[in-house]
Amino acid sequence: MSINISNHLPTVGIDRMSFSVPSHYLPLEALAENRGTSFRKYQVGLGQEKMSVPAPDEDIITLAANAGARVLEGEDLSALDTVILATESGIDQSKAGAIYVHGLLNLPSHCRAFEVKQACCSSTAALQMALAGVSIKPNRKFLVIATDVARYGLETAGEPTQGAGAIAILVSANPRLIAMDPESGSYTKDVMDFWRPNYLDTALVDGKYSIKVYLDALENAWAEYQREADRPFEAFSRFCYHLPFTRMGEKAHNQLTSLVDAQLSKEDRLHQIEAGLMYNRQIGNTYTASLHLSILSMLENDTEDLSGKRIGLFSYGSGCMGTFFSGTVQPGYRDTLLTEAHAKQLASRIPLELPTYEDWYAHSLPCDGQTYLTPLCTRGQFRLGGIDAHQRQYEASPGHPSSTRQDGPAQLAQV
Ligand code: COA
Repeated sequence: MSINISNHLPTVGIDRMSFSVPSHYLPLEALAENRGTSFRKYQVGLGQEKMSVPAPDEDIITLAANAGARVLEGEDLSALDTVILATESGIDQSKAGAIYVHGLLNLPSHCRAFEVKQACCSSTAALQMALAGVSIKPNRKFLVIATDVARYGLETAGEPTQGAGAIAILVSANPRLIAMDPESGSYTKDVMDFWRPNYLDTALVDGKYSIKVYLDALENAWAEYQREADRPFEAFSRFCYHLPFTRMGEKAHNQLTSLVDAQLSKEDRLHQIEAGLMYNRQIGNTYTASLHLSILSMLENDTEDLSGKRIGLFSYGSGCMGTFFSGTVQPGYRDTLLTEAHAKQLASRIPLELPTYEDWYAHSLPCDGQTYLTPLCTRGQFRLGGIDAHQRQYEASPGHPSSTRQDGPAQLAQV
């Protein structure tokens, strides 16, 4: 039986979206060759072609600020109520990454800023929190930023499924991109498929088990969504999934279509998800940003006009929690997309040689409070200039056309 929870709520949803990725990537051909693996395993078996690699002067804050700056261009900042930053690559146990972003973007002091965590799906909980907030205060906007660096050990099975990136999602009443349905179904279970203790900088993962738990969570979250929404599979035109690697989206969609006994050809099944796989295949895993990057990929790359079409969405976070939710693409959505800027960003990335990838992988900031300046590598708007007395120093990248703030750590001495 459906639960009627939508009677008096305004239409709320995603008004604008933009992503930011590191300026460099590793072609997976190079990784395959060096690791003695067939590139087809990565390209076909995992569905990945490139992997974003953060430079020493890029981190979750610079990526988040770059994405946030673009999504807020032309916006009335006084209407911004809250910034919620979702990540599982936090840089501080106490201070929220959202506060650094708040500072870099010069957001008004009435705007709250905090951070949330639950593996790859806290971004969806943050989005739902923002939707609830806008339902109560329809004149306000909420900014959700999902930002992560997906990092596994060198020469492990997880290595080709790394990546990095951030996505900024502006949530408002009468949204221009997607009106979200109020119903959702969640599933939570205490399991150890993927985790990262505070003393490690790479995740521990039981990869095969994590795929199984993901699919279990999808099945249960879908069932719970059906209890709330009572909406058949046929009501959806497209589906986007959490994509640690894009083949996972195919596995998930096969699971769902067989669960509901959908009579679809392999081509029709793929058609329902494939535009949503395109960005992730070129960027790699972005943990909390992954599902939302797939949504943006769907909106920007699907050749059909999706106006009025409902999209089914599945968010998964190891440990584990899954949520199935949905929304309807708004008429005229293409006018609000930043497709050209995103294409330019991806096309301007620089390929890395494997030794540089390994050097950057090994790079870390000093932990003893000494002053350190990072080399200038990024082409992004904001960069991590260094660290001084245990404080990360962020700055506008010198020479970047959009630079608005130049009071970075120029006073720091190179060590
Ligand atoms: N050509 C085409 N496909 C190939 C291939 C080749 N030459 N060689 C292998 N493959 C296929 C395999 O058949 C397999 O496909 P299948 O999943 O349809 O069976 C796929 O490539 C992966 O290879 P496999 O050997 O099974 O896995 P792996 O040991 O390399 O590990 C992961 C894969 C995803 C488990 C690993 O990358 C990982 O742990 N990633 C991090 C955790 C993660 O992403 N979890 C997902 C849920 S959140």
